[in-house]
Amino acid sequence: MVDLRDTWFVRDVEIPTRLVLAPMAGVSVQAFRRQGRRFGAGLVCSEMVSCAGIEHRNERTLGYLRVASDEHPLAIQLFGSEARTMAEAARMVEAAGADIVDLNFGCPVKKVTKTGAGATLLDDPDRAARIVSAIAEAVDLPVTVKLRRGLRDGSRDCLVVGPRLVEAGASCLTLHPRSAQQMYTGTADHALTAELVSLVDVPVIASGDIVSRAKAQTVLATTGAAAVMVGRAAQGNPWVLEEIVGGDAREPTREEVVAELVLFVRETVRELGERRASGFLKKFYGWYLGRGRFPRPFKQELVVLDSTDEVERRLIAAAPGSLALIERLEAEVPSGDEVTLELPISIYGGG
Ligand SMILES: Cc1cc2nc3c(=O)[nH]c(=O)nc-3n(C[C@H](O)[C@H](O)[C@H](O)COP(=O)(O)O)c2cc1C
Repeated sequence: MVDLRDTWFVRDVEIPTRLVLAPMAGVSVQAFRRQGRRFGAGLVCSEMVSCAGIEHRNERTLGYLRVASDEHPLAIQLFGSEARTMAEAARMVEAAGADIVDLNFGCPVKKVTKTGAGATLLDDPDRAARIVSAIAEAVDLPVTVKLRRGLRDGSRDCLVVGPRLVEAGASCLTLHPRSAQQMYTGTADHALTAELVSLVDVPVIASGDIVSRAKAQTVLATTGAAAVMVGRAAQGNPWVLEEIVGGDAREPTREEVVAELVLFVRETVRELGERRASGFLKKFYGWYLGRGRFPRPFKQELVVLDSTDEVERRLIAAAPGSLALIERLEAEVPSGDEVTLELPISIYGGG
């Protein structure tokens, strides 16, 4: 059996467990990543960040480059289509304090693929390799790439593109073996992950449908992947990370659920501000309170509230025993203000 508490390396970056928290747009804020680290993820990743947004010094885009001191090791993921712009953005990622630059060659969403970024790069191995080598030259950080299997159903293009990217300088590949066309339907075909592992001499991370310790063990044992990545299963459910790295499979108490959610709400408000956070957080209420943990109407009550203070009051009223846990968490977990490094990049232009 593979021990998920083993350390491994992405080039010279030491990763303390074989569990990686997936990059998810609209989800992977600092609060999510820091929580993931606390529950056993050895590596966390930002959501995909637009290289065009960085080039134009878009304020919101630059906000995605904020790194907290307790997130390391952390990858920041970039998407783009043009080697020069992407290399420039990678330099900013390095300046921001990330440990790894990850490139998104897998996003299937039209808004991204129509610009020549994301999964479309799987159809153009030459351009994909040029991008990787330009970035590997521009920064000292390891460059890693996250791929889908290909654009169309049944595609095996990742087996052609993957080794090309390693030749071009990629230090690690993550494979989500669904096609872009598939989006999230069907299942991730990890037989393809095993084939990719056999073709490259860098670590491969297996992404897709890892929902339990048993599944993680099977995928690691049958593919030879260095690590598993967990995405949707961790939404509102950090306890699954604990289980996957080797803890007990246990349902958290209502008090624990409320305490983690309240901390998550507070940290997200600090990160995004009350106005943005209150909309952003709504999907998390269903994720945390679902799974039979609280009656459905309770979530409906929360999502119509405008202020996160009111959300917090209702949550604590539903599980008063959570107060002591929240206090303990607040004391143990350094607050965002203490750990969030000042962005070393002026958001108002220039440097
Ligand atoms: C809401 C959502 C947003 C995602 N955003 C990204 C992203 O920004 N970058 C990326 O490489 N993959 C993204 N993914 C894909 C995940 O990283 C992961 O590969 C995929 O969900 C399969 O893993 P899972 O079955 O554990 O969820 C996203 C997935 C979801 C569900």
